[in-house]
Amino acid sequence: MIELENLSVNFGGVVALDAISATFTAPVSGIIGPNGAGKTTTMNVISGFLRCTGRIRGDGVDVGQMPPHKRCRWGLRRSFQREQIADDLSVEANLQVIQDGVPGSRAVKRADRERALEVCGLTDRRDVLASQLNTFERRLTDVARCLVGRPKIVMFDEPGGGLSRDEANRLGDLILKVHELTGASTLVIDHDVDLIERICAETLVLDFGKRIAFGPTRKVLDDPKVKAAYLGIEEELA
Ligand SMILES: Nc1ncnc2c1ncn2[C@@H]1O[C@H](COP(=O)(O)OP(=O)(O)OP(=O)(O)O)[C@@H](O)[C@H]1O
Ligand SMILES: [Mg+2]
Repeated sequence: MIELENLSVNFGGVVALDAISATFTAPVSGIIGPNGAGKTTTMNVISGFLRCTGRIRGDGVDVGQMPPHKRCRWGLRRSFQREQIADDLSVEANLQVIQDGVPGSRAVKRADRERALEVCGLTDRRDVLASQLNTFERRLTDVARCLVGRPKIVMFDEPGGGLSRDEANRLGDLILKVHELTGASTLVIDHDVDLIERICAETLVLDFGKRIAFGPTRKVLDDPKVKAAYLGIEEELA
């Protein structure tokens, strides 16, 4: 469970988040909204990259009070709108970077890594430098990084961006699998409403930093306020 209570963030005059509250109880939940709505900012405050006012709890624990490295140790993982994997490291070493920050014996970490590589279809690519990977493989590596070290909250920022329909579907299945395997509460931001509807049981809709809808995904997508916020791209929500 992920509880957001009254989250607010200002950048100079811009109110990026305006007293956002939502309690995500679904295995996988979505955050949608037009460009600049505050979606990435929400992930940035949950992961501790940005300061905010308000409270953030994960499984009842006040993660909002922890510095970012403690949040990772506690079990918070995220992928970025542009993958943040290290190009000069192998696929496997990119997973080890995450494991360095969490407790566990070498043997346990090795087994954990093996599983993540296998689930993501990267076992054969483990020794390849990240700079040699294609876009989809980079995205898979990003997912594998979220799988290791007993995650409790996993967040994906536009995981389907730049992928073909087929690749986006495969990534969606993998995101569902992350929850199945780890039990982590998962948050997904994407403009691909088909992907959100397929994998997210509940969805938060932001617009100009405000919460305009929250609840079961289909109900939210049918909400006239949500359709109005997407004016011009309404057909995507049909
Ligand atoms: N570091 C920053 N400094 C100043 N303004 C920022 C910063 N980060 C975000 N903003 C502003 O805050 C608002 C919310 O941005 P955010 O990146 O959260 O939007 P988003 O919903 O993720 O949009 P997109 O769909 O384009 O990724 C925007 O007006 C943006 O310009
Ligand atoms: Mg964004």
